[in-house]
Amino acid sequence: IITHLRTLVVSLVFAQCGAVSQDIMYVTLPLYHISASLLGIAGCIQLGATCVLKKKFSARQFWNDCRKYNVTMFLYIGELCRYLCNQKEEDRVHEVRLALGNGIRPSVWKEFLMRFGPIKIFEFYGSTEGNLSFLNYTNKIGAVGRAGIFSKFLKYDVWKQELIKDENGRCIKAPLGKPGLLVFQVTKDAPFSGYVGNKEASEKKLLRNVFVEGDVYLDTGDLLVMDEDGFLYFSDRVGDTFRWKGENVATSEVAEIIGMMDFVQEVNVYGVSIKNYEGRTGMAAIVLKRYHTFNGEKLYKHVENFLPNYAQPRFVRIMDVMQITATFKHQKIHLANEGFNPEIISEPLYFMHEPTRSYIPLTKEIYKNVLSGEIRL
Ligand SMILES: *[C@@H]1O[C@H](CO)[C@@H](O)[C@H](O)[C@H]1NC(C)=O
Ligand SMILES: *[C@@H]1O[C@H](CO)[C@@H](O)[C@H](O)[C@H]1NC(C)=O
Ligand SMILES: *[C@@H]1O[C@H](CO)[C@@H](O)[C@H](O)[C@H]1NC(C)=O
Repeated sequence: IITHLRTLVVSLVFAQCGAVSQDIMYVTLPLYHISASLLGIAGCIQLGATCVLKKKFSARQFWNDCRKYNVTMFLYIGELCRYLCNQKEEDRVHEVRLALGNGIRPSVWKEFLMRFGPIKIFEFYGSTEGNLSFLNYTNKIGAVGRAGIFSKFLKYDVWKQELIKDENGRCIKAPLGKPGLLVFQVTKDAPFSGYVGNKEASEKKLLRNVFVEGDVYLDTGDLLVMDEDGFLYFSDRVGDTFRWKGENVATSEVAEIIGMMDFVQEVNVYGVSIKNYEGRTGMAAIVLKRYHTFNGEKLYKHVENFLPNYAQPRFVRIMDVMQITATFKHQKIHLANEGFNPEIISEPLYFMHEPTRSYIPLTKEIYKNVLSGEIRL
């Protein structure tokens, strides 16, 4: 439920970052995201500013569009800025002065400023459900903002995927510099609106009796780190990491990369376990765009370019629709348990095949050879 009040609050964010009615905003993100719809479109209405809408983000056309339409600010998510940095030419001929978004990595942030000039970047943290969000005006590289008094960080066991409690069954605050589960206190003045017509899903987002009997907190499902100065850094989403070859793979990062392929409508990345291997190897469940077909060669080249070896998914599963959980997140556990056996899974499966540099259909033969160790992963 997005209340009118919340819509108004979010639509004011660009103004808080110093945007004015003379500004021209370039929106390349999907409009069904809160980012584009409320920060972007509603933000422009709020400011009386001009909005330039692009059907699909193009790194190649980005700066030309900015020049053509006199763009002064834009919205980003995830890897968008990285894609701009991956363009060959340095480009400082533009009037962009402000960027607002979520998910830029510190290394990309630094490179971005070097390549494209002194653009003010406002990185924020916020969830669709949560009332509070962080935004800082200090331009501190990497930080998503500073903690407010309503937010708390709880000690969390990532591998067991549960909160760490003391002898009285209460939660413990995470120490500075260590990832903690971010929760927001829910009170009469700061209510949680919940999900439309789904009480059960709404209740699942809440933690009760956290520090004292009767208190209520909204579980964001995100792990953040706070430094000594109170700046916050995004670390991970709970349950979204698996280990492969001794490395941690953040599934959201892999999904963001695969999501940039033109034939991908939706992608859900998780780890499947294989006999005789430590950890889990990556699998990407993909829903294809209408009228598009899966292109194994293209995907191979793409993941090779953008992901380290351990994070490249070895398996792909094509799905008609993505299964989601009661809390509207991609269903992972169920898919992970189904594994990659082509005798059990009726949907098309593909295997990352190094000799042909492509994802090829996963046959019973390949499956057998992976299990027997004849094909090494
Ligand atoms: C951009 O600015 C220039 C110079 O002020 C102006 O001539 C041009 O018409 C503007 N372009 C658009 C699309 O508004
Ligand atoms: C951002 O950080 C600065 C400096 O630490 C602080 O003065 C300011 O109040 C913060 N702004 C917000 C909106 O939290
Ligand atoms: C969010 O919380 C603040 C208090 O922190 C409260 O004043 C406000 O009404 C809440 N907004 C919404 C949309 O629930």
